[in-house]
Amino acid sequence: MASLRTLDDQDVAGKRVLVRLDLNVPMKNGVVTDSTRIDRQAPTVRELAERGARVIVLSHFERPGGKVVPELSLKPVAPALSRAIGRPVAFAGDCIGQEAQKAVRKLRNGDVLLLENTRFHAGEENNDPGFAKQLAALGEIYVDDAFSAAHRAHASTEGVARLLPCAAGRSMQTELSHLERAIENPERPLMAMVGGAKISSKIALLENLTARVDILAIGGAMANTFLAAKGLPIGRSLTENNQIEVAKRVIAAAESRGVKLLLPTDVVVAHELEPGAANRIIGASQVAEDEMILDAGPRTIQAFGRALDGAKTLLWNGPLGAFETPPFDRGTNAAARAVAERTQEGKLLSVAGGGDTVAALAHAGVENGFSYVSTAGGAFLEWLEGRILPGVAVLEKR
Ligand code: 3PG
Repeated sequence: MASLRTLDDQDVAGKRVLVRLDLNVPMKNGVVTDSTRIDRQAPTVRELAERGARVIVLSHFERPGGKVVPELSLKPVAPALSRAIGRPVAFAGDCIGQEAQKAVRKLRNGDVLLLENTRFHAGEENNDPGFAKQLAALGEIYVDDAFSAAHRAHASTEGVARLLPCAAGRSMQTELSHLERAIENPERPLMAMVGGAKISSKIALLENLTARVDILAIGGAMANTFLAAKGLPIGRSLTENNQIEVAKRVIAAAESRGVKLLLPTDVVVAHELEPGAANRIIGASQVAEDEMILDAGPRTIQAFGRALDGAKTLLWNGPLGAFETPPFDRGTNAAARAVAERTQEGKLLSVAGGGDTVAALAHAGVENGFSYVSTAGGAFLEWLEGRILPGVAVLEKR
């Protein structure tokens, strides 16, 4: 992070600046339904335009698989970007070739141009050097503000950065500094709260966290596999029988490293996962054969809260129960509120991210109560796994 090049290192006035954003945002009927990602990246575009750059925005949208899929055009995102930056945004129907070149030639200092979905070309995901060269030819400087796409070694996130003077954008900088404070260089005790459905998608993450954190609290359906690994009955609960050995490994690693491992001690069970389904709160060892664990119980959440009281830094990934189906959202809501309160009181640095997590915090109404909530999915998880993200590594000073 200290060695990352930033916008402060670049003189952009009058220059053609290629800016990689992640405009892969939720859309319905051609309208952006959640502009959080765009809003986070807008300051970089605004700053460049204000400093007199000719801004050329690159982004992917969904997964067209290297061919033109008209429904996956970025054109409908241009008005949302324009609203976010408070300036007009021109659009070109291709990200390379004559159409892109012509649109770039028309730019004056301070203008902003959005190019069509980079993934309409197979060269993007293959990180094809020829394709990267065509992108690079459009600009003189490359700025990457798309942390959420930095786990992809694609032409527009990695290849092009090798061909031009490059820098991290402002939201990339903010994201990395929070991740660094939360995991590379945290104020201890460091606690991680990990939930979600599957251990199988988070093995590397759990293994990396047991090597770094002081307290590891586990919830969500993945906790069921941990309870099963401890020999407790879990009835018809969602579980991954083939991950029991992994759960045992994580338990043993936590024990041998002195990491305090918190698993549910009480649970909310029901016979069906339906809104308002009849349910009961029982000890984690009392689940009947025909019941399903759908949430962490109040005693568990209190124990997580006590652990939070002793922590200085918290990393959160994954909901603690079936939060989309009330009343099985209570555990996640209560834990989210507990984190937000301690954060607002200045007692805790809290960083959350990845997949369902943002939705779970928004559902609990506390997404603004955390120190930082990442909008990245896969990139956030890979960072927690301790992996080097190619789109970040390439921005480091060489
Ligand atoms: C995301 O939404 O997480 C990023 O835009 C990356 O998308 P991808 O998983 O299709 O590469």
